[in-house]
Amino acid sequence: MESYKNLLLLIVLGCGVLQSCAMRAEVYDNNNETCLYADMELQFTIKYETSDKNMSTSSFLLPSNVSTTGSTCGDNTTAPLLKLDFGDGHSFTVNFTHNQTVYHVDVITFVYNTNDSLIFPNASAKGVFTVASKVTMPDLPMDDYYKCVNPEFLIINNVTMKFSNVSVQAYIKDGNVSKQAFECDADTPTTLAPNVTTHAPNVTTHAPNVTTGAPITTPVPTPIPKPETGNYLVKTGNVTCLLADMGLQLNFSTTKNQSGWKVINIVPNDTLTSGTCGIDTSSLKLQENQMMVELVFAVKNSTKFYLNGVNVSISGQFADSNNSLEYWEASIGSSYMCNKNQNFKITDNLFLTTLDLRVQPFNVTDNKFSTVEDCLADKKENYIVPIAVGVALLVLVIIVIVAYIIGRRRNSNSGYEHF
Ligand SMILES: *[C@@H]1O[C@H](CO)[C@@H](O)[C@H](O)[C@H]1NC(C)=O
Ligand SMILES: *[C@@H]1O[C@H](CO)[C@@H](O)[C@H](O)[C@H]1NC(C)=O
Ligand SMILES: *[C@@H]1O[C@H](CO)[C@@H](O)[C@H](O)[C@H]1NC(C)=O
Ligand SMILES: *[C@@H]1O[C@H](CO)[C@@H](O)[C@H](O)[C@H]1NC(C)=O
Ligand SMILES: *[C@@H]1O[C@H](CO)[C@@H](O)[C@H](O)[C@H]1NC(C)=O
Ligand SMILES: *[C@@H]1O[C@H](CO)[C@@H](O)[C@H](O)[C@H]1NC(C)=O
Ligand SMILES: *[C@@H]1O[C@H](CO)[C@@H](O)[C@H](O)[C@H]1NC(C)=O
Ligand SMILES: *[C@@H]1O[C@H](CO)[C@@H](O)[C@H](O)[C@H]1NC(C)=O
Ligand SMILES: *[C@@H]1O[C@H](CO)[C@@H](O)[C@H](O)[C@H]1NC(C)=O
Ligand SMILES: *[C@@H]1O[C@H](CO)[C@@H](O)[C@H](O)[C@H]1NC(C)=O
Ligand SMILES: *[C@@H]1O[C@H](CO)[C@@H](O)[C@H](O)[C@H]1NC(C)=O
Ligand SMILES: *[C@@H]1O[C@H](CO)[C@@H](O)[C@H](O)[C@H]1NC(C)=O
Repeated sequence: MESYKNLLLLIVLGCGVLQSCAMRAEVYDNNNETCLYADMELQFTIKYETSDKNMSTSSFLLPSNVSTTGSTCGDNTTAPLLKLDFGDGHSFTVNFTHNQTVYHVDVITFVYNTNDSLIFPNASAKGVFTVASKVTMPDLPMDDYYKCVNPEFLIINNVTMKFSNVSVQAYIKDGNVSKQAFECDADTPTTLAPNVTTHAPNVTTHAPNVTTGAPITTPVPTPIPKPETGNYLVKTGNVTCLLADMGLQLNFSTTKNQSGWKVINIVPNDTLTSGTCGIDTSSLKLQENQMMVELVFAVKNSTKFYLNGVNVSISGQFADSNNSLEYWEASIGSSYMCNKNQNFKITDNLFLTTLDLRVQPFNVTDNKFSTVEDCLADKKENYIVPIAVGVALLVLVIIVIVAYIIGRRRNSNSGYEHF
């Protein structure tokens, strides 16, 4: 049922059954030369409320036939902008910012229209909704393109965006698309093998002086090591009441306009754990030197729990919180799990990156995790390709049958029916 719906969306949104849904968009300057391009697969998964008061999710890919009208190369006064309009009033927009040596994505905006009943059947609130965020993407040397084959997740409120096979370049001069890639953390070998970093001694919270393949002439942003996975627990008396395993990274900006992002990994061995357990709210507090991260969980409808609040303070540098989040939802009596590296927007100035996440903030029994509920990112990996292949096979079978029937008719017409 779900798969059928997604296939339908695929076809309607314009991806061929056999071709991949990778999208390539280019923006041209006054001389008709490429100044900006993006090549990627982008999957949106959106939670929305249906008229019977249930929550539903819709999942679809950015189609390959998008309109780039409204995109600009940018000049001295305006930023380069890639605006992709598709379907019934949906759009995905990225703009860029730069100085003389580096550039990066500034804001990602996604606009979706729940009047589109194909994508949002039964939506209770019909209208146009926008999620937008400054992003924590690294600085890219001018004249490099950003490359990320592995999936990266950006989660803003009800919208999960999964980017894969990404190549993007802005500020292209004279139409000369770069061959020099700046590879994302997710693609670098050290981050692919968790074992390498998990046991790395003395992981510093600041970027080490790792050299990369990029030219030495520009200040090259260094990859941040992946956070170590910690096993945290909260007890009441001698009974464990909250369990949380995770690698946790904070991306925060101390400036109002998010002009630069700082990254800190939580180092489990240096972390002091505390917290509270209640019937409908629980919390986990992690403290390391001058830094404090608090996660607050709540219960809704006596059946589900979710991450309701995140509270971060770094003495003298940064403090921010949001207490109306709805992330990491799962049934009470079970645990929520997400192995994939995910980037959650908490506030304009704060993102939380999680890795190997498993939490159970309520109803822990026998000091261990109960049954698990997987996150969207871990589930349904690549279900679209098998469907496409299945449909192609079906078409093939039909062609063979039709050919066979036609062949038989011919045969009987020409009187060769006795074999
Ligand atoms: C721009 O270049 C493309 C090929 O790169 C060509 O198809 C198109 O007609 C050109 N447009 C103009 C306005 O010159
Ligand atoms: C987002 O999700 C919340 C609950 O998770 C829901 O109340 C709200 O209506 C959703 N927003 C949109 C625009 O669908
Ligand atoms: C942009 O600025 C450069 C120098 O910074 C100048 O040479 C150029 O004429 C300006 N272009 C426009 C369109 O203003
Ligand atoms: C990018 O777009 C956002 C709004 O979508 C705007 O606030 C921001 O200033 C733009 N960035 C630049 C560098 O122009
Ligand atoms: C450009 O920005 C980067 C990172 O924010 C900084 O290291 C570099 O010094 C800046 N370069 C110039 C010329 O301002
Ligand atoms: C990590 O190490 C464990 C045992 O040391 C091994 O079972 C596991 O496969 C390794 N994982 C990876 C990704 O190498
Ligand atoms: C953390 O502590 C545990 C036990 O105390 C130890 O086995 C492990 O090696 C430590 N990890 C690091 C990175 O220091
Ligand atoms: C780790 O750090 C401690 C003190 O911070 C130091 O004594 C030790 O030698 C370091 N170990 C390694 C392998 O660098
Ligand atoms: C890396 O840092 C270490 C110690 O902090 C230093 O000895 C070494 O020279 C540095 N390497 C480079 C390439 O800067
Ligand atoms: C936990 O404490 C209760 C009393 O407070 C005691 O009866 C029980 O044996 C303790 N359990 C363990 C595992 O120590
Ligand atoms: C609350 O939970 C009950 C029982 O699972 C369910 O029937 C009902 O639809 C839920 N209500 C809401 C608003 O989610
Ligand atoms: C969770 O624990 C509460 C009491 O702490 C209990 O009332 C509730 O029935 C439990 N729920 C499940 C699903 O086990």
